[in-house]
Amino acid sequence: MTSAASNQSARDAPAELSVPDLYTAITAAMVVSNEDLLSCHFGLWGPDTETDREALLRANRVLAGGCNLEPGAHWLDAGCGVGGTAIYLAETHGINVTGLTNCEPHVAVAAKQAEQRGVGHLVEFRHGDFMDLPFADAGFDAVINHESFCYAPDKVAYLQGVRRVLKPGGRWQALEGLLSGRSLSPELEEVHARMQKGFRMPPLVTWRQVLADLEKAELEGGEARKLDVEVAQSTQATRNNWLLYLFASPHLGKERQPWVNFMQAALDFDEGLRHGAFTYRLLSGRRPY
Ligand SMILES: C[S@@+](CC[C@H](N)C(=O)[O-])C[C@H]1O[C@@H](n2cnc3c(N)ncnc32)[C@H](O)[C@@H]1O
Repeated sequence: MTSAASNQSARDAPAELSVPDLYTAITAAMVVSNEDLLSCHFGLWGPDTETDREALLRANRVLAGGCNLEPGAHWLDAGCGVGGTAIYLAETHGINVTGLTNCEPHVAVAAKQAEQRGVGHLVEFRHGDFMDLPFADAGFDAVINHESFCYAPDKVAYLQGVRRVLKPGGRWQALEGLLSGRSLSPELEEVHARMQKGFRMPPLVTWRQVLADLEKAELEGGEARKLDVEVAQSTQATRNNWLLYLFASPHLGKERQPWVNFMQAALDFDEGLRHGAFTYRLLSGRRPY
């Protein structure tokens, strides 16, 4: 996509669209875009992946690695979308997952999919705001964010909530796009601004800032493992597939505009990543015993 085209799309986005409104508008596309994976995130390529689908599944494995994966463990998937990661965890490890989303229509879609896949008894989906976690203290073995921590307007406050609901020794892990910390040229500042508009999210923060925020929230052992190479193949494939799709379907109706803007924001992430402005990391921290 040219810079001019994405500028145009950012202007087309209604400024007042809220995050739940955006995700409501794109729920159907989230369900069909990656078949049964129900994923709204990038994949991670590695030595064991040959397809986009395998890379999306590998992202789930990377996100979950290092947490308590024993059957019966209870996890919170904060910002769970239409439930792909939660259902994957229940299917592959038999763990109980509560998925929380601020987009109400996601709840029924995710619950129906879980039921059809035979894991309805292991997962529960709830409508709510992860900035005000509606859960008792110390109930979860792990809390994960799969490309949703970026939406927290106050990262320290969010992480303090995570600490509260984690059991002692429980882990927080997130796969997220972040700022690399390099100073941004005016062009890359524009890419960042356009991406925020398309995704309806606050400005990205640097990975170093997250490490400092973890300390402030009293989560220990903070790490930010770099996965730029692993994600780049997925961001590029997303770019190529989307441009092909637009070529084949040039006359998308107005109701598709939020999805068009969302996908163009994904292309902006790819651009920022290629120029070293953005980075993709596995973030983690642990509630002390
Ligand atoms: C990029 S999608 C990722 C969805 C899912 N984790 C996945 O990987 O497919 C971001 C999700 O975060 C959710 N979200 C954003 N802000 C939220 C908040 N304050 N509370 C709960 N969910 C939120 C959105 O509704 C959306 O489903």
